[in-house]
Amino acid sequence: MPQPWSPQSWRNFPIRQVPDYPDPAALAAVEARLKTHPPLVFAGEARNLMAGLAQVAAGKAFLLQGGDCAESFAEFHPDNIRDTFRVLLQMSVILTFGAAMPIVKVGRIAGQFAKPRSGETETRDGVTLPSYRGDNINGLEFDAASRTPDPERMMQAYAQSAATLNLLRAFAQGGYADLHNVHRWTLGFIAGSPAGERYRALAQRITETLEFMEACGITPDSTPQLRATDFYTSHEALLLGYEQAMTRIDSTSGEWYDTSAHLLWIGDRTRDPSGAHVEFCRGIRNPLGLKCGPSMNEDDLLRLLAVLNPENRPGRMTLISRMGADRIAEKLPRLIRAVAREGASVVWSCDPMHANTVTSASGLKTRSFDRILKEVKSFFEIHRAEGTHAGGVHFEMTGQNVTECLGGAQAISEADLASRYNTHCDPRLNANQALELAFLMAESLRAERMKEARFAASA
Ligand code: PEP
Ligand code: CO
Repeated sequence: MPQPWSPQSWRNFPIRQVPDYPDPAALAAVEARLKTHPPLVFAGEARNLMAGLAQVAAGKAFLLQGGDCAESFAEFHPDNIRDTFRVLLQMSVILTFGAAMPIVKVGRIAGQFAKPRSGETETRDGVTLPSYRGDNINGLEFDAASRTPDPERMMQAYAQSAATLNLLRAFAQGGYADLHNVHRWTLGFIAGSPAGERYRALAQRITETLEFMEACGITPDSTPQLRATDFYTSHEALLLGYEQAMTRIDSTSGEWYDTSAHLLWIGDRTRDPSGAHVEFCRGIRNPLGLKCGPSMNEDDLLRLLAVLNPENRPGRMTLISRMGADRIAEKLPRLIRAVAREGASVVWSCDPMHANTVTSASGLKTRSFDRILKEVKSFFEIHRAEGTHAGGVHFEMTGQNVTECLGGAQAISEADLASRYNTHCDPRLNANQALELAFLMAESLRAERMKEARFAASA
């Protein structure tokens, strides 16, 4: 029998990636204050997302999860929120067409602040300071004051999350997400992209579909689904004091929900089955993500699924594989088979970012568009071979025109990286690169469907 769970039971478990706050009383005071603040999301919304993810797990929908590696206080601006949201919507329309399935849209946004780090400290020119752990913990500037964890930063992260979520809700429901608008933006992208010609045919098909629907009377005026959309939020459940403070009993179900986001995920560095992060996540009823890196073996994965989803509820678990373009073929099939043998219901998603990071000659962390695409393509191929549903993708991207990842039609080179390298943590796809990836994925998904349809017709 599992031990009783409470929002603070994680405090009795070994924990990794904890900030060293100099003033524990100040930390406790902030956590107590946060507890009195309103929830950011409503449990019913988290349940709706879980139902959407259950559809993905059943092979009837596709998950698109994306956004910043780390949100920052400095980049907090309505235009940035709008641009990220817009690119995610555009990707989603392109993928809807490619997959012929509903797309469940989840942002890494409105709370994605805390970052796991490979080292506790960072040394520059003989000076050693605590590592930067995300704007809700300490500052990026390399000086002792900035790098000292400050609990007040949690309050600022909460406020920024609340304001971000408010704008996202307005965009999602207020008419901005109108399908015709979204497609018009995509046509604009195609007109301006060096690879536009390649994507024009697919975009033209979407245009014709919209015209056909309009001729049949299916318009944003007649059909609310065309002018509004469901958009969910997610972040890594890393800073557990914050997550605990946001965890409340839902009055309708009597269950505990972490109301800081709809979906919380467990990072690759904190997924110890007997550690604090897994302990915290097992007790909240939100849908959960679990990063699966190359060191994850079948036994660990099955144990984690047993702890995190003992009732095998569909939509509860999204397994986010992040193996690297070169290792996915060796690492992923075994995990897929173990899960299938166990009869566990999961969403399989692919994060082609985190195991394809390299350091450029100039010392900047970067990722190449081709490697990212390669891991996604292998992910689809592996699932096809295993007879399982390649359920979704997980990207670090921004709506801004940054130069952080190499390649794509813009052909961002090593020499270009420094010009608009704005990330606080990992390199993100820019808007054009993200849209290109969506087109390339849609092409593969569509080609696959056409092949299956021909096969069915000739059978
Ligand atoms: C992340 O998603 O930003 C991250 C740190 O990923 P991972 O835990 O997979 O390394
Ligand atoms: Co990252």
